[in-house]
Amino acid sequence: MDFSIKAFDTKNTLAAAKTGCVAVAVFENKKLSAAAQALDVNGAITAALKSGDISGKPGSTLLLRGVAGVAAARVLLVGMGADDSLTEKNYSSAVSAALKVFATLGSQDAIIAFPLGEVKERDAAWALRTTVIAANEAEFRTDAQKSKKEAAPGGVRKIVIAAPEAGQLKTALAQSIAIANGMNLTKELGNLSPNVCTPTYLADTARKLAGEFGFQVEILERKQLEALKMGSFLSVAKGSDEPPKFIVLKHNGGKSKDAPVVLVGKGITFDTGGISLKPGPNMDEMKYDMCGAGSVLGTFRAIGEMGLKLNVIGIVPACENMPSGRASKPGDIVTSMSGLTIEILNTDAEGRLILCDALTYAERFKPAAVIDVATLTGACIVALGHHTSGLFTRHDAAHDALAEELLDAGRQTGDVAWRLPIGEQYNEQLKSNFADLANIGTPGGASITAACFLENFTRKYTWAHLDIAGTAWKSGAAKGATGRPVPLLTTFLMNRV
Ligand code: BES
Ligand code: MN
Ligand code: ZN
Repeated sequence: MDFSIKAFDTKNTLAAAKTGCVAVAVFENKKLSAAAQALDVNGAITAALKSGDISGKPGSTLLLRGVAGVAAARVLLVGMGADDSLTEKNYSSAVSAALKVFATLGSQDAIIAFPLGEVKERDAAWALRTTVIAANEAEFRTDAQKSKKEAAPGGVRKIVIAAPEAGQLKTALAQSIAIANGMNLTKELGNLSPNVCTPTYLADTARKLAGEFGFQVEILERKQLEALKMGSFLSVAKGSDEPPKFIVLKHNGGKSKDAPVVLVGKGITFDTGGISLKPGPNMDEMKYDMCGAGSVLGTFRAIGEMGLKLNVIGIVPACENMPSGRASKPGDIVTSMSGLTIEILNTDAEGRLILCDALTYAERFKPAAVIDVATLTGACIVALGHHTSGLFTRHDAAHDALAEELLDAGRQTGDVAWRLPIGEQYNEQLKSNFADLANIGTPGGASITAACFLENFTRKYTWAHLDIAGTAWKSGAAKGATGRPVPLLTTFLMNRV
């Protein structure tokens, strides 16, 4: 989709704009938005509302052709609910309704002239971003590995968004497009089959991004990881024939002295469970166990494209979790880079085993904050379902503030998270008779004990953990990666500038 913004005024009127379709808002109680009024030159829109053909309820639509006095071939009336309180939800439903109609039109260009600045508690930049992300979502295809590509999406390919002050919103538009492009990368990586999207493929992707956007990149190989004593990460990697890769990306957008934000993404490119083998049904979905890594790479794509003025470091420990003669066994004890020993009671709790060494590695950057992102626990889906990511941090003033920043970035972008507790009581569950820590807890609160395990490796900096097991991809007929939490992470970083 091609996006641009344009300001219409008394000289440059919306009614005179030549395009395939102009979408304008109408409200319940037969009220017209300002843009609808601007097109109501000969009363055709008032008449359409009077006729009762459109209710004005959120997402209701009516397509009019050849409206007298309007240069556009079509006018699409879109309902936005009550005119005196335009909610986020009503605005979003109106956008998806308009996009659905756009996809069926015999014309390639359209104008969206919605009341961007009138959404309650949100600004025009919010409305712009919501529109761009939804339109990008609508045209995303999952046919990268099909021999015959699906027909190119029909309908509208070029959207002009009417904005009151086009100048000011130019940056917001560029940022929205960058987020959408970042989400697309995250989705593409997630959807790729696990024989293609290997640790090596993720490393190559990071190198390509670095070339394109000027990041520094370093890929640590097994030998170097051994020298760093990453015994926990390597214990997961050793069951597989695919070589592990430890990816470090640096975006130096801030002042050289400014402490960086570090993003750490779980990059298990396939999780069989290892010797604690997973059951067969739906195991294919464990190709999505690198979505934390994918979202770090997607976020880098977004901040690279927008040239974000902040220092950000991305760390991705990437490997497969496979059963084999060389794989870890339940009961094995390994020594992590931190020096803490870990009893591997379940080889399927491998995410925390690769993340703990990455979190220790992050110390060297003296970070302002470290956020790890992982499809870490099935229990997170039980707790929060598929709409909300789990957020975990310690409970003190600095971490409460970081949690609020992340939750707020999620709310701003509809990429929501919810905070769950961690603490000493839960740490009890991770005690081992034979090592410093066990890699699973006693039953109950498995997402929390997983977060508590990670917490042990993050005591030297401010840290938060996002469990995206329920939100990174969709199952069923619409199976596919969602691109989350790229909007949350990118917005969090943007808010820090
Ligand atoms: N990658 C999985 C978590 C997962 C499972 C995410 C299903 C999304 C859907 C993780 O490595 C795992 O297997 N976790 C175990 C932990 C358990 C052994 C304590 C789980 O959740 O069952
Ligand atoms: Mn697992
Ligand atoms: Zn896993």
